[in-house]
Amino acid sequence: MYTNKLKAVGEMFRLPGTLYSYTSIANGNINKTFKVDYMQADGDIKSYMFQIINTYVFKNPAQIMENIDRVTRHIRKKNEDGVCLHFHHTKDGSNYILMGDSECWRVMNYVDSVTYNSSDDLNVVRYTGEAFGRFQTQLSDFDAAQLYETIPDFHNTKKRLVQLFADAEKDPVGRVDSVRGELDYIKSVEDIATRLTDMYALGAFPPRVTHNDTKSNNVLFDRRTKKPLVVIDLDTVMPGMAMYDFGDAVRFAANTAEEDEPDTDKVGLDLDKFKAFAEGYIPFVRDSLTPLEVDSMVLGAFSITVELAARFLDDYITGDKYFKTNYENHNLVRTRCQLKLAQDMYEKRDKMKDILKMI
Ligand SMILES: Nc1ncnc2c1ncn2[C@@H]1O[C@H](COP(=O)(O)OP(=O)(O)OP(=O)(O)O)[C@@H](O)[C@H]1O
Ligand SMILES: [Mg+2]
Repeated sequence: MYTNKLKAVGEMFRLPGTLYSYTSIANGNINKTFKVDYMQADGDIKSYMFQIINTYVFKNPAQIMENIDRVTRHIRKKNEDGVCLHFHHTKDGSNYILMGDSECWRVMNYVDSVTYNSSDDLNVVRYTGEAFGRFQTQLSDFDAAQLYETIPDFHNTKKRLVQLFADAEKDPVGRVDSVRGELDYIKSVEDIATRLTDMYALGAFPPRVTHNDTKSNNVLFDRRTKKPLVVIDLDTVMPGMAMYDFGDAVRFAANTAEEDEPDTDKVGLDLDKFKAFAEGYIPFVRDSLTPLEVDSMVLGAFSITVELAARFLDDYITGDKYFKTNYENHNLVRTRCQLKLAQDMYEKRDKMKDILKMI
């Protein structure tokens, strides 16, 4: 069904050989991804990844692709022998093309690899930390201010909380009375959770290149050795705080339950997973980040968890417009989960800091 389209895209990107076969990759919620095989003149098969960028989610593909171009070029210079991502260019020098009005295509090298969706294996968690730690370090001498902030204020916790309290004041769908406890908790930790955002605004931390989706399925692993090869999914690469990348990874990988577990007794921070991620990540960034950044990692985890709770709660209060929900109280369940996780992180903050010191 896609054959003719893929052929046309391949021609635009001047791929050598002839299209031989293709498969659609089921993984990935945002973009549409294909592995496309080309037969070379000598009979060898060379594979590429073709992707249709989700322009509903990513409104400005030109800026995203320029960010990706700059970041991948920088990493390739640092890592000439290792596996790197390389996006192909058209004869006009563009790394994406538009088909019709809004279908936006790009093509990158295919890396023979595996990905892991869940993080039950501590080695996967540790190696995921390694991959993102290396990514941060390779980009530590890149001027992040050169990147477009493609989603403005994405991790401005302060603004997210201000928005939440303003919406709670308006109570547009009459749900606020049922969430007073959650709002009170967020209010009580507002100063702590927004401290890093405030410090960043005052220039206490340099803007870093942040990935903003630091999950294990955005790392490609070697099939045989299981070691990390390369970080992928660079659509949300932006200037930001390294502690939020670290924190988001911990929030995702070290939660003892799913993000929408209705029984909050099951939700908490798994210190073994926290340690495993940190053991992978911290050694890479210890010399490239400032001591203040490294000391702020635990606060980063707490802040981003409260921030996400605030976003879920805000969506609940305003009538479930942003996050896709599967049932009536889904956003409230998610809120409670994140708040339980944040509380547990707060209680375990000294243990987490001790773990970081030991690494
Ligand atoms: N260069 C590549 N080589 C091999 N496999 C790849 C490559 N790029 C992506 N993949 C595979 O395709 C999947 C989806 O890719 P990607 O993460 O870019 O899409 P996505 O739709 O943004 O994903 P999500 O939103 O779920 O994180 C990856 O998890 C990986 O399995
Ligand atoms: Mg992905």
